[in-house]
Amino acid sequence: IYISKTSNIFFKNIHIWKIFTHFLNSVEKQESVGVKMDPEEKYNQMKPYAGMPKEVLLLYSSQARYRVPREVLFWLMVCVTLALVAVTITVIALSPRCLSWWQASPVYQVYPRSFKDSDGDGVGDLKGIMEKLDHFQYLNIKSVWISPFYRSPMKDFGYDVEDFRDIDPLFGTMQDFEELLAAMHDRGLKLIMDFIPNHTSDRHRWFNLSRIRDPHYDDYYVWVDCDPNGPKPNNWVSIFGNSSWTYDEVRGQCYLHQFLKEQPDLNFRNPNVFQEIIDIIHFWLKKGVDGFRMDAVKHILEAAHLRDEPQVDPNKPPVSLVTTEWDLHSDYTTSQVGLHDLLREFRAVLDTYSREPSKYRFMVTESYDYDEVEKTMMYYSTHLVRESDFPFNFYLLDLPHNASGVWAKHLVHIWMGNMPRGEWPNWVVGNHDRHRIGSSAGPAYVRVINMLLLTLPGTPTTYYGEEIGMENINVTQSEIQDPAGKYNTSASRDPERSPMQWNGDMNAGFNNKTNITWLPVHPDYETVNVEVQMKDSGSVLSQYRFLSNLRESELALHRGWFCYIHADANVFSYLRELDGLNRAYLMVLNFGKESAITDLSSIPELPDQLMVLLSTNQVNDGKVYQKSQIQTEAGEGLVIQYSTSRRYNPNHPEECYVSEKACYLPTINILYKC
Ligand code: GLC
Ligand code: MG
Repeated sequence: IYISKTSNIFFKNIHIWKIFTHFLNSVEKQESVGVKMDPEEKYNQMKPYAGMPKEVLLLYSSQARYRVPREVLFWLMVCVTLALVAVTITVIALSPRCLSWWQASPVYQVYPRSFKDSDGDGVGDLKGIMEKLDHFQYLNIKSVWISPFYRSPMKDFGYDVEDFRDIDPLFGTMQDFEELLAAMHDRGLKLIMDFIPNHTSDRHRWFNLSRIRDPHYDDYYVWVDCDPNGPKPNNWVSIFGNSSWTYDEVRGQCYLHQFLKEQPDLNFRNPNVFQEIIDIIHFWLKKGVDGFRMDAVKHILEAAHLRDEPQVDPNKPPVSLVTTEWDLHSDYTTSQVGLHDLLREFRAVLDTYSREPSKYRFMVTESYDYDEVEKTMMYYSTHLVRESDFPFNFYLLDLPHNASGVWAKHLVHIWMGNMPRGEWPNWVVGNHDRHRIGSSAGPAYVRVINMLLLTLPGTPTTYYGEEIGMENINVTQSEIQDPAGKYNTSASRDPERSPMQWNGDMNAGFNNKTNITWLPVHPDYETVNVEVQMKDSGSVLSQYRFLSNLRESELALHRGWFCYIHADANVFSYLRELDGLNRAYLMVLNFGKESAITDLSSIPELPDQLMVLLSTNQVNDGKVYQKSQIQTEAGEGLVIQYSTSRRYNPNHPEECYVSEKACYLPTINILYKC
């Protein structure tokens, strides 16, 4: 076959060659009879014909009438390509960064014991969460933080970890976890795990080995000589009350625990401990988790000198009365030098998994620094070193302390006025450690608080149940589950951990196989539940959903300027706008105890007539107010959408904030850095 093929080609070539030589011969003949021909004219004479050999064709096609257009086309293509490359580079260079997934939607916190119980043992579980993924999508939520589900003796309901690489059977199996993660990813949902670097359970293998002085684990924890019945090594107190030192019979020394005695603090001054934690971070990142909420970070390091902390009231007799964290300045047990270096190392690990597009791994830190907000701000990354994407902002948890517009503005401004330039804000109005805002502020304020949360710049965090306005449950002394509550009833966190209210069925749909739930269901579940509220367009849930969608669809809301407009005894008002975009938003939120008429006539950038897009009081949707007379009831919030070509921010730089400046170009519908 091969020989016949090659011979075929051979004969064909011979044939072509013959035609070509015939052509040349004829040209030569013409020349020899005295007609001197221009080389181009030689083949001008020829008519193209089918089967023309390549060589002839080439000669033929290099005539000017073919060559010139060809060259013009070629250079045109080069120019167009260069222009396209230049435009692409300019657009990339001028485009503001895209928002990452953790900026694009609220973060929803699931407390797994209380979300959904699939097997009817009274405690929520991973399969339960899996059953409820629709709920997140219904609310347009893309990131879900799940409180700990590691293997744990549950002294602090999972914040006491016995094995960082295993799932507690109460919550399910590793397979359940993997299935949940895969199902979430299928739906475009991101899973943020809780991570607890400060301490382990006293049942952790490391602690057992440390107790018996296994040489490798000898100083995995903070051990100090002390007498079983004598004074404690120093005056340090636990967050849950009383001394943070407990004598261990086995080892014959005291160990440090900044939380429960069943939660011994790890010794991060030991590089092996640090390495163990890094390995665990790798373990979960390899499984594909999308980020971590780093628990209780300010406690990670303690001063090695172990000196007494200064008392807040120096005259209080020590030992007997110095028993709570409020009695001491926690100078030696929190925020120690070196802490941020550790967190930056954690971050560096996350970054090695963040390189693929859309695989960004997120880190948020938990630290309550109260008056010392500058300490909290240190957890933000800087342009030189990466750390948290944001530290949790807990200041809005204080909203109920003072029902006024001025107070709301003050709390917002603690963050906005202290956040490093260009960083991304975030807002928390509830979590598993604080009483539900619906109870502490009162149910009449739930909607306006959600409205604030979802229209401020940055990432809102929603604790499960806040989207329907769940309230605290009453837990009697004998029903107390939370160890913090056992020490001090008023510190119990049980009230905010009651089962999620899904519907009006038995146990509010939290489970349906038994009548048990680990904490009682709130008695209001027949009216306050997801199913009922889905059917009501004016419900807390429907308004939450509307605002969550609006936040995503409106550029001004998710990446525009935030400007203070007004604050008084009742009302807090601010606007959101984006340069180049005519559609802007004005929020008028009444946090006070009285109805109010707000006069914004002194603000020329606002149109005279303002139409309400959404009111927390549904009957006022669509209402038009004169800007001199914007009416709100106590607890009412208004989202006003207006159209203007006049921007407020250029004339009020002191009143306005933006994380990354961007402008909108309506003619070609793009954003650019400006
Ligand atoms: C964090 C958690 C809290 C827990 C504590 C100890 O503050 O939010 O629930 O008790 O850390 O891990
Ligand atoms: Mg269960």
